[in-house]
Amino acid sequence: MTVDPKIQQLRDMREKAQLGGGEKRVERQHAKGKLTARERIEKLLDPGSFREMDMFVTHRTVGFGMEEKKFLSDSVVTGWGTIDDRLVYVFSQDFTVFGGSLGEVHAEKVCKVMDLAMKNGAPVIGLNDSGGARIQEGVVSLAAYAYVFLRNVMASGVVPQISAILGPCAGGAVYSPAMTDFTLMVKETSFMHITGPEVVKTVTREEVTSEELGGAMTHNTKSGVAHFAAENEEDCLQLTRGLLSYMPQNNMEDPPFVPSDDPSDRLDETLNTIVPDNPNKPYDMKEVIRRVADDGVFLEVHRHWAQNIVIGFARLGGFSVGIVAQQPQVIAGVLDINASIKAARFVRFCDCFNIPIVTFEDVPGFLPGVAQEHGGIIRNGAKLLYAYCEATVPKITIITRKAYGGAYDVMSSKHIRGDISYAWPTAEIAVMGPDGAVNIVFRKELAAADDPGEEHARLAQEYRDQFANPYVAAARGYIDDVIEPRETRPRLIEALKMLQNKRDSNPPKKHGNIPL
Ligand code: HXC
Repeated sequence: MTVDPKIQQLRDMREKAQLGGGEKRVERQHAKGKLTARERIEKLLDPGSFREMDMFVTHRTVGFGMEEKKFLSDSVVTGWGTIDDRLVYVFSQDFTVFGGSLGEVHAEKVCKVMDLAMKNGAPVIGLNDSGGARIQEGVVSLAAYAYVFLRNVMASGVVPQISAILGPCAGGAVYSPAMTDFTLMVKETSFMHITGPEVVKTVTREEVTSEELGGAMTHNTKSGVAHFAAENEEDCLQLTRGLLSYMPQNNMEDPPFVPSDDPSDRLDETLNTIVPDNPNKPYDMKEVIRRVADDGVFLEVHRHWAQNIVIGFARLGGFSVGIVAQQPQVIAGVLDINASIKAARFVRFCDCFNIPIVTFEDVPGFLPGVAQEHGGIIRNGAKLLYAYCEATVPKITIITRKAYGGAYDVMSSKHIRGDISYAWPTAEIAVMGPDGAVNIVFRKELAAADDPGEEHARLAQEYRDQFANPYVAAARGYIDDVIEPRETRPRLIEALKMLQNKRDSNPPKKHGNIPL
């Protein structure tokens, strides 16, 4: 059957666009263990759901022989599709075309899907694999980046934005992912840095590899720039799908309700004995979270960074929740600079997107020390306090053990609009721990005692009996109930249901001034 020439032309052009920068470059991409831009989209989205836009766009650059080098779609593939039948917008940088570099038309394509995402209220997913600003376009490419940055900020808190880093991400280009909600990196094949090893060597004389400077594990363990480290691209794209399942499409919606067969009234007897008798002995707070969550599933965010605090998503009776929890296994779950920053940003994300926050608290206080003070623990700890105070989503707290000092106030206490606070019988709620308190309050008595050690132990026990329990706070209504640990899951689910229609707001203002 003969095909109309115009139809044939369209088919040929579409076919050509699929090849990106050509077969050789695609081979090179595969040889590096990387997928192409379109292959990634296929793996990310529901099968057959991708609708590409702007396939026939080409660059308009002249000079450097660029007129002869034109590729359909230029260096980014854009469009929309679905994940678990929910609409998402996606842009996927094509490294086979000018190294995925961003110039005028690349940015126009990205901005087009971002604008659509904001108007239609659906998440934007960026698959990043780019050599940065397109060198041949000069300042035009810098302007082009700025248009994307502006949209990242305008979309912040309106629709979820997720960045998967699947190759290079260098120069100022890193600031677009940095302004999105979550950054996922692939081990070994991705890196992010504002200047590469060569520039670092020239400026600071430090010798460092690209992987050490800005590889996936560097940003997952040291800088906190990345939230997830995926084993490979497939893993990264699946993780992106899973992450989205906890989020609403936009700030006007609630997160999806996902019913589970896990009974809402399930008791967990192990929890009744999980907290050791010795208050200085650790236990694994992640086990507590898993025992409480639907089907034991907890999607941890920032798993490798500031491990003294644990954050992530779970479901309780089908409701999506953001969890913030101290980890007594890592420096006793103390609040330090990084833990405060990590949790603060997560609390704000949950608040942006109507995700209730469940806090598991076992905190000996803020970390003392010169390094922390000089590093700004005051300014940084204040971020977490600010974030919890500002949040108007349902906030439920379970105090499992220690709730000492300022950290008691910070961790979603009722005094800063926490909705429900429960304590386990093992809770100790006071200004500070017994040892420190006795040293300060009874300094003179201890100095005068025949046996200061014995006297200290006696006074510490007296203090513990009087203050280190949940009943002083319960007597004042600062906690709503003391519960058996085994009933934590049903109690949380009941509270979430009770708070389902919560309405609260902050005074009208342009924006607050969070201590940055
Ligand atoms: C135009 C670029 C490019 C760029 C790479 N290419 N980066 N073209 N502009 N920025 C092209 C190469 O010419 C090559 O084209 C193809 O992409 C693949 O590049 P290779 O170097 O062969 O690949 P590889 O060895 O894998 O190295 C990848 C790389 C390297 C690490 C990304 O290309 C690189 O260092 N590029 C420059 C990175 C950079 O400094 N960018 C500017 C950052 S400043 P052919 O035709 O051979 O396939 C910046 C400012 C943003 O981004 C400002 C925002 C505020």
